[in-house]
Amino acid sequence: MRHNTKSYYLKTFGCQMNVYDSERMTEALARDGYRETDDLAHADLVILNTCHIREKAAEKVYSDLGRIRDVKVGRKRDGKETVIAVAGCVAQAEGREITARQPAVDLVIGPQSYHRLPELIARTESTRKHIVETEFPGDEKFERMKAPRRVSSPSAFLTVQEGCDKFCTFCVVPYTRGAEFSRPLAKIEAEARELVAAGARELVLLGQNVNAYHGEGHSGRSIGLAELIRRLADIDGVERLRYTTSHPRDMDDDLITAHADVPQLMPFLHLPVQSGSDRMLAAMNRKHTAAEYIDLIGRIRAARPDIALSSDFIVGFPGETEEDAEDTLTLVKAVGFAQAFSFKYSARPGTPAATLDAQVPEDLKSERLQCLQALLENQQLEFNARSLGQNVPVLFERRGRQPGEFVGRTPYLQLVHAAAEGELVGRTANVAVTETRRVSLSGVIAAA
Ligand code: SAH
Ligand code: SF4
Ligand code: F3S
Repeated sequence: MRHNTKSYYLKTFGCQMNVYDSERMTEALARDGYRETDDLAHADLVILNTCHIREKAAEKVYSDLGRIRDVKVGRKRDGKETVIAVAGCVAQAEGREITARQPAVDLVIGPQSYHRLPELIARTESTRKHIVETEFPGDEKFERMKAPRRVSSPSAFLTVQEGCDKFCTFCVVPYTRGAEFSRPLAKIEAEARELVAAGARELVLLGQNVNAYHGEGHSGRSIGLAELIRRLADIDGVERLRYTTSHPRDMDDDLITAHADVPQLMPFLHLPVQSGSDRMLAAMNRKHTAAEYIDLIGRIRAARPDIALSSDFIVGFPGETEEDAEDTLTLVKAVGFAQAFSFKYSARPGTPAATLDAQVPEDLKSERLQCLQALLENQQLEFNARSLGQNVPVLFERRGRQPGEFVGRTPYLQLVHAAAEGELVGRTANVAVTETRRVSLSGVIAAA
């Protein structure tokens, strides 16, 4: 271990994949002797792990960088150097444009190069030149990011697949994360055991398109996500398993069956549909119709009747009419979601949809978003209301804001607040639900 008394400040934007990558960078920096700080003025190294999915997310990075530049200038006056690094999907998508727009940035590092982070930081420190590293060297990142695992919560992320080959016409991910790549089973099992040894009770398997997982199994042949889930369920100490995010086209029978017969696999599925209009689905290149999605949900519910469903929606995709927007509401009513995310379409440079005619005006997008969200929020409220008076097993993840309060999740991913004496973090306890709201439940511990 190198001894170092430097501090770093790390801010993470975007999806769970970035959270996972940030955890791995944290571990690598800790091994190099860096300490984390939440005070920019004390940071010798600042890393922004960025997201490029919508314009707002990407622009936020530049306003943050302006503020960080000012801190860097102030520190320089006091004789202290600061390295500013931009990681993540903006780094991958914009590369050199970042240092051109904000010259205070020293290092631009794409998601496939994080194993080189310590080396690249050292190089910027010695040369004081801009470094832009956005190659796609495949699986090297996972191989070389080896550092002792730490878990900050009993629910731990585990990346099993990266990249996407689907090319939805609105989406930057195939460009920022590259082609689909699945990690081999043996590597994932080893990491799962480390996570459990470090205190994880739940594993959330991550991938931009996780149900397209096709990694190398023990016999050398390729296995799917269902088989991976079964292998991980066999590991002692793995109480709960989840996976995200899935594509409807990759939801095969084997995976549906796993929802019926793997007790550790939680009855919750995030399965983005984006729109309920076949015209829009085709223009988005989603490769399925609204009826096919509804039929798929029917088959999943036949296997696991109590499954809670979640989705992502985009409103105002180019060419979307009132009727298309209505079709989305109709689909939502037909399915019934426990929760969902919905966004206004944001044109992303380099994606096919960005140059389509018939971009939808901003005020129409806002109107349609409001309408959709009102319906989805109502469904979420109703879904949670059904838990009233029930006894539910809750895995407690952290302490709450009130003294003696703990926060955890039900199998259906609902957030639960409950009070208890002693320590509940990392334990599963039954909670009798006494109160339900749109985004959380409250209750009392029924039996440990
Ligand atoms: N791989 C996942 C999620 C990718 S990004 C999937 O296949 O669905 C998460 C969500 O962001 C998407 O599901 C989509 O709803 C939204 N999104 C992606 N690109 C967008 C864009 N250009 N404008 C608005 N929302 C977008
Ligand atoms: Fe983006 Fe998901 Fe479509 Fe892939 S499947 S292009 S990640 S929205
Ligand atoms: Fe954003 Fe990249 Fe994730 S664009 S949503 S951080 S894969």
